[in-house]
Amino acid sequence: MKRFLTVGDIGNLSDALAEAKQVKQTPFAWQELGRNKTIILVFFNSSLRTRLSSQRAAQNLGMNTIVLNINEDSWKLETELGVIMDGDKTEHLREAIPVIGSYADIIGVRSFARFESRTFDYEETILQQFIEYSGCPVISLESATRHPCQAFADLITIEEYKRVARPKVVLSWAPHPKALPQAVPNSFAEWMKVADVNFVITCPEGYDLAPDIMAGARLERDQKKAFEGADFIYAKNWSSYTEYGKILSKDRSWTVDQEHMSWTNNAKFMHCLPVRRGMIVSDEVIDGPNSIVIPEAANRVVSAQVVMKRMLEGLR
Ligand code: CP
Repeated sequence: MKRFLTVGDIGNLSDALAEAKQVKQTPFAWQELGRNKTIILVFFNSSLRTRLSSQRAAQNLGMNTIVLNINEDSWKLETELGVIMDGDKTEHLREAIPVIGSYADIIGVRSFARFESRTFDYEETILQQFIEYSGCPVISLESATRHPCQAFADLITIEEYKRVARPKVVLSWAPHPKALPQAVPNSFAEWMKVADVNFVITCPEGYDLAPDIMAGARLERDQKKAFEGADFIYAKNWSSYTEYGKILSKDRSWTVDQEHMSWTNNAKFMHCLPVRRGMIVSDEVIDGPNSIVIPEAANRVVSAQVVMKRMLEGLR
């Protein structure tokens, strides 16, 4: 495996889930695979889960880990080509990436949407440069438009908690005070469309995801109808794709509370975290017995470890 950006990069999902189960049962069985190998985790943005779970996954595989916080630990980086660097940016990404690559065997990159241009974000301008110029396998640790490590962990969690062979999984928009990227819902939808689940998206007008993400997914505008019979509720905020990066609604009737959960088939509640209580979800739901947000986060180690293991196997 040379890159991990989308569901297409993981191949057969049943095989990936079987491997995840094996990795979870025996996390230290591949310590030799990572011996004398180094992963560099490059963060352009903040993180708790991705930062820690990626390091833990790499350490389980016997790898050395280096974390680089761009603009904090390193020089301020210029990312635009063709600019005169007379501002506060000291180094260009074009030199920084191959230099980082020369110290690494695998690179992980977190680089969020900037919301300056939909084209810039959806072309994955930063991540693609790492793929092109680093000379290393590259893992997306959440890019401008995708969060594959999260979606893989979400799928592992659904597999563990499902009570029927083909559960109903609902991705529900929920309000938030800030404009958030579409990376998590894009990846979640992308993975659920391939998984053996009955997948439904519910969101207000103006919040449909990109056309290629919506294609093949069932859209139910009425949140109550969408929740009926659901086995899993995955709440998430995202900003508008069509009016790119804008907040069109903060309607708290979309906040997932106990009444919303009563419409479901005793559904499990999921969220990628961090989550805004009282906006996305009520305290009683996230603290309740059907909330699986903590095991979901714990599975981030498993998803990252499967991906790193496959990349290490590809280096041999
Ligand atoms: N879910 C997730 O990626 O969390 P962090 O932003 O804390 O890494």
